[in-house]
Amino acid sequence: MFELTVSVSKTYKITIASDFSLFYERVLPFIKGENVAIVTDDTVDKLYGGAMDGFLQGKNIIKIVLRHGERSKNARNYLQIINALAENAFTRSDTVVAFGGGVIGDIAGFAASTYMRGITLIAVPTTLLAFVDSSVGGKTAIDLAAGKNLCGTFYQPSAVYINTAFLVTLPKKEIKNGLGEVIKYAFLSDTVCKKDIKKFDENLIYKCLKIKRDIVEKDERESNERALLNLGHTVGHAIEKLSGYKLPHGACVAKGIAAAIKVSEKLFGLNGDTVRKMNALLKTGKHDLNNPYSAEEISAQITADKKRQGDSVKFVALKDIGKPEIVKIAVSDLQKILKANES
Ligand SMILES: NC(=O)c1ccc[n+]([C@@H]2O[C@H](COP(=O)([O-])OP(=O)(O)OC[C@H]3O[C@@H](n4cnc5c(N)ncnc54)[C@H](O)[C@@H]3O)[C@@H](O)[C@H]2O)c1
Ligand SMILES: [Zn+2]
Repeated sequence: MFELTVSVSKTYKITIASDFSLFYERVLPFIKGENVAIVTDDTVDKLYGGAMDGFLQGKNIIKIVLRHGERSKNARNYLQIINALAENAFTRSDTVVAFGGGVIGDIAGFAASTYMRGITLIAVPTTLLAFVDSSVGGKTAIDLAAGKNLCGTFYQPSAVYINTAFLVTLPKKEIKNGLGEVIKYAFLSDTVCKKDIKKFDENLIYKCLKIKRDIVEKDERESNERALLNLGHTVGHAIEKLSGYKLPHGACVAKGIAAAIKVSEKLFGLNGDTVRKMNALLKTGKHDLNNPYSAEEISAQITADKKRQGDSVKFVALKDIGKPEIVKIAVSDLQKILKANES
């Protein structure tokens, strides 16, 4: 078992275990009130819903089961959740349990943060991506027609319980998705090494979360350092959007990190050994690193992005493994570097 304390606007504990044996001790004390809303998706409910209901026996449980997938992270389902809370007379002293992957974490978190201006939120993530990324740090969101994650809040859970046994049923493609973020952490800090990634155990999840925790504690609302967590995401998001969201997020992040290595090589004049070491680390996730889009298409997509600042973007470059740096780069310069590396 591993434990991490996150101290931001709220202080809470993350438990990383290989089963549910610590759930009572670690989670139940934080479940406030008699009413508990479990927000989950149909896949997770089928697999694990019974177990979760069992743990919460004795509470007045309502369950909101959304269809699995990103398309469920929408305003209609958000209203469905908060209306269910209201209809069942939930008060500010009751609790929402987000039980699922990042989609459920984001929408349930957004609902918990806005219902009566905020009720207790417990996160029980079930995907690798949610373990190492979305369940911690307090970003909540729903998607709008105009784009992903356009509506959201910063809202921290009161407890996070990670049970790695959920990974047994997680499809390979979802594991790979999460691995894109794991690799990102391995570049952000030299505390995660190739051996850890290959071993793939609770310790790896702990190490990744420690990196995220340390960054989020310095900058909860992303005015500065938290942007480091966007390593690989500037080009990665552009590729993801160009594919019409057909390419998985984790794979796009890996392609984005490959681009970040090329940009860093140019900006910092990295030596051959450093670049070889970086590329070897990147390959640990076994992602397809080929980029199907041209430098022009990618820079046009980045220009359309709301995160752009004038003609430039904030870009996370790497001086070495474990030495990321946020730089401001003109989109035209980024395009030139990507162009020069096209094969
Ligand atoms: N809030 C944040 O900080 C943050 C960070 C990264 C990503 N996100 C968001 O997270 C979302 C992606 O999360 P995700 O990759 O977990 O997707 P997801 O929630 O859609 O889960 C992926 C699939 O796995 C299934 N699943 C979940 N747990 C399972 C299990 N144990 N066994 C079998 N199947 C299981 C789900 O039903 C779903 O079909 C995106 O919406 C993204 O924007 C948020
Ligand atoms: Zn990501």
